[in-house]
Amino acid sequence: MPDLEGLSRSRMTRRTFCAGAAGGAVLAAVLAGGSVLAAPAIPAVLEAARSGDSKPRKEDAMELTEALFTRRSIRKFTDKPLSREDIETVLRAAMIAPSAGNAQPWEFLVLTDRAVLDAIPEISPYAAMCRTAQAAVLVCADLAHEKFPGYWVIDCAAAIQNMLLAARGMGIGTCWTGIHPMEDRIKAFSDRFKLPQTVRPHSLIAMGWPDAEFKRMDRYKPERIHYGAY
Ligand SMILES: Cc1cc2nc3c(=O)[nH]c(=O)nc-3n(C[C@H](O)[C@H](O)[C@H](O)COP(=O)(O)O)c2cc1C
Repeated sequence: MPDLEGLSRSRMTRRTFCAGAAGGAVLAAVLAGGSVLAAPAIPAVLEAARSGDSKPRKEDAMELTEALFTRRSIRKFTDKPLSREDIETVLRAAMIAPSAGNAQPWEFLVLTDRAVLDAIPEISPYAAMCRTAQAAVLVCADLAHEKFPGYWVIDCAAAIQNMLLAARGMGIGTCWTGIHPMEDRIKAFSDRFKLPQTVRPHSLIAMGWPDAEFKRMDRYKPERIHYGAY
């Protein structure tokens, strides 16, 4: 994403701003409710967020599309730290996800300690990228929050996808690493982080500023679409 610093409002049209790298700033602005994260964002979006206007805009849809198609699993991160505010903006996106009965069963354990991150591959070899990640979020569900038993897995997945897209919009890299339904990983994470009895680890999301490309991809397969009958 190009740096938006210094780009004056007069130098570009609203359209070019929206269609380009500004998606991150826009998503961040909306998610942050118009807080300091929104500094380089479009004034119109800021104004909308501040006034509580959450009506979808055509421009916002374009920015979401940009984040969707350029979100990639990032497995190498720079050593620039993530701020707590950045992490919380991503978690705000997680918590607006749909959930069965609006139960919102999720809980998030945020890990930023270097030694803790470095040790994660010992319990999840597929999470080796934690060695360069600046944070990892253990996404869990507390079954005590459930309204419809069993849906917590889907609810957490929806929250995670929101996290990945919001992070992408902010220029932050993520990698989703699976825990549920692998019994050995569930036990390892539950034991390591002393999760309460009713709390189930779902996935671990590694996060950081990317040291890899957000490559644009398209995996559209028309043969997977069935109209009217399979
Ligand atoms: C449920 C789930 C579990 C995953 N687990 C891992 C993992 O343990 N380690 C890893 O490096 N990537 C993991 N991934 C990331 C996938 O490998 C990745 O999403 C896929 O290859 C597509 O690449 P993309 O995310 O760059 O589009 C996981 C993804 C999902 C959805």
